[in-house]
Amino acid sequence: MLLDIVVLAAGKGTRMKSALPKVLHPLGGTSLISHVLNTARELEPASISLVYGFGGDAVIASVKDDSVQWVFQEHQQGTGHAVRLAMPGVNDDSMVLIMYGDVPLIQSATLKTLVDAAKETNTLAVLTIELEQPGQYGRIVRNESGSVASIVEAGDATEEQRAIREINTGFMAAPASLMKKWVDSLNSENKQGEYYLTDIVALANGDGISPVAVSAGDFWEVEGVNNRVQLAALERIYQRRFADRLMEGGVTLGDPSRLDVRGDLTIGQDSFVDFGVLFEGSNALGCGVSIGPNCVIRNSTINDGTVVQANSVIDSAVIGEKCSIGPFARIRPDTVLAEGAKVGNFVETKKSNVGAYSKINHLSYVGDANIGRNVNIGAGVITCNYDGTSKHITTILDDAFIGSDSQLIAPVTVEKGAFVASGTTLSKNAPADQLTLTRTPQRTIRGWKRPVKKSETE
Ligand code: UD1
Ligand code: CA
Repeated sequence: MLLDIVVLAAGKGTRMKSALPKVLHPLGGTSLISHVLNTARELEPASISLVYGFGGDAVIASVKDDSVQWVFQEHQQGTGHAVRLAMPGVNDDSMVLIMYGDVPLIQSATLKTLVDAAKETNTLAVLTIELEQPGQYGRIVRNESGSVASIVEAGDATEEQRAIREINTGFMAAPASLMKKWVDSLNSENKQGEYYLTDIVALANGDGISPVAVSAGDFWEVEGVNNRVQLAALERIYQRRFADRLMEGGVTLGDPSRLDVRGDLTIGQDSFVDFGVLFEGSNALGCGVSIGPNCVIRNSTINDGTVVQANSVIDSAVIGEKCSIGPFARIRPDTVLAEGAKVGNFVETKKSNVGAYSKINHLSYVGDANIGRNVNIGAGVITCNYDGTSKHITTILDDAFIGSDSQLIAPVTVEKGAFVASGTTLSKNAPADQLTLTRTPQRTIRGWKRPVKKSETE
């Protein structure tokens, strides 16, 4: 039996107090709706219909998925109305699963259990959970035999019903033919004047069909985002779960509650990540890598045995094995460090290749440069890559030595084994194995008197 999924996401999300549609707010660096769609895809459905309304164009632009069937709900007349609008896109002989666009942490295994329960009984299955404080959730009303008789919205419930702690999470699965029939016969005679999807439970019972309840394991799986406080709470749960998976995979974390992963991340065994590290985008770290506190690492690869010390920022770079970076280094996009390279404090690199075992240990800017092996770049060396209109390349071949405080005016080449003395402003190539320097001779003015401030002589 095929599975068709309907995701409800037309809600305005008023309580987010945001110009951004609620389902586009990020959790773990990706929008709520992407989390939901990714989980939906894990079930390999025949179709996914997404009911949207407020901020629809932004949602469609953000999702960028041609396989999603977009269903516009202009006026939000309730969850039942939203599902009814999506039914033309659902096959009659499918199983249909209802999901919410603002419940990001639902797990596909839980959904599979729900769908399987609906399949086995060929009836409606609702996902429920017991809460100490059932609040505004719809209450699951069971009859004497224990089967689900109806769902009553908190606002419509009697005092006795409000005391029920088993609530409707909103996730439901049913054969599409039945779902279509039920949503077509809903009415809006209730406190909110809306078409409640939840009323299909009573309709099923009227048809002599007993809906089944499947219980969700953890509350975070079914918790929705209505405001930024809930969003932050779910973010912490997401991050802690990510941290736990890293630790289970053999990574030591300085503090699992102070790690943030916004995107994809893989880390090899026996790596260590200290507190306060932020990973953004897609990152891959090898084995035995050590990342010091307060680093930011974005879209980068860091190979085995590399040590990144505190407060370094690495963006869109490829770092070889056993490199040493930081503290306070800034590795900018398109930097490639070969094995054993060292980039030390207050060094900025950009669009540069640094060869094996080469060192740039202190206070340098290296941009648009190709640096060979075993090169030593002294403190304060600058590649002057920009002439005001275009960028030029600096080439430094193997074993070269660049003395401190030199400026390399690109385009320029330092040949193999060349030695550039401190304080050189290099505007022509430095020949191999020779000492090159541009330095005015030092002189001393004998008998010179230090100027004295007037006020001091008076
Ligand atoms: C709904 C359930 C309630 C359940 C709760 C779980 C109904 C009538 N009530 O209540 O039993 O405990 O979810 O969170 O179903 N939506 C649309 N179009 C609409 C209305 C809603 O797309 O016209 C979407 C919303 O964007 C949201 C979802 O449906 O993703 C749920 O809507 P919401 O208004 O939050 O429902 P609740 O009143 O919380
Ligand atoms: Ca809600």
